[in-house]
Amino acid sequence: MRVSIEADISTKHCNILSTRQQEIALTQYHIAVIVGSLRKDSFNRKFADAIAKLGPPDFIFKQVEIGDLPLYNQDDDDHPAPAVKRLKLDISDAQGVLFVTPEYNRSIPGVLKNAIDHASRPYGQSAWIGKPAGLLGSSIGAIGSAIAQQELRNVLAYLDMPTLGQPEVFLTVNEATFDGDGKVNAKTEEFLQSWMNHYVDWVKKHSL
Ligand code: FNR
Repeated sequence: MRVSIEADISTKHCNILSTRQQEIALTQYHIAVIVGSLRKDSFNRKFADAIAKLGPPDFIFKQVEIGDLPLYNQDDDDHPAPAVKRLKLDISDAQGVLFVTPEYNRSIPGVLKNAIDHASRPYGQSAWIGKPAGLLGSSIGAIGSAIAQQELRNVLAYLDMPTLGQPEVFLTVNEATFDGDGKVNAKTEEFLQSWMNHYVDWVKKHSL
């Protein structure tokens, strides 16, 4: 009898564990990816596509549309355009955010800042607060978007987004950087994989 009770408890314990394990297995991390270029053949969009492929199966990367947002105007805070509502939902629903941006005139592109401003308002209703962030960037210049990324860090700090500090990735790009399948060369991919591993740990540690 005693044995059968223990066996019963043990079976229940196993069932509880397996349910929990199933929950963990089912957990997915949705990452909102924001590309700071609207250009059709954007290197940064290719970069965003390439890095997403290096994520683990439980990470779902979705590029967020920012090209149809109106210019931010504080007068519209009480009646946001549908594209603004969609952007805020995309950010709110995500467990993490990934910015992939070029550098424009030693800063971030206006389209990116416009999107950031939209989702930060109305005052007190920012969608960004607490979302773990990663940032990457590429440019054709030798410093590979370094100044833009530094400026973006400043903005993300103000928005209260825990942002991965290391490793940093400043990718200098040209037409040969991505092959016909959108892949980078093996050495670059190895480095990007290391960045992705850090980013995954960062999101898991900081997601709400
Ligand atoms: C640039 N570019 C550029 N590059 C850079 O390294 N530092 C810079 O300050 C600038 N400034 C700049 C301003 C503007 C208005 C443009 C259009 C471009 C070059 C830029 O890195 C290059 O065009 C990238 O290819 C842009 O990224 P996407 O569109 O390919 O993703």
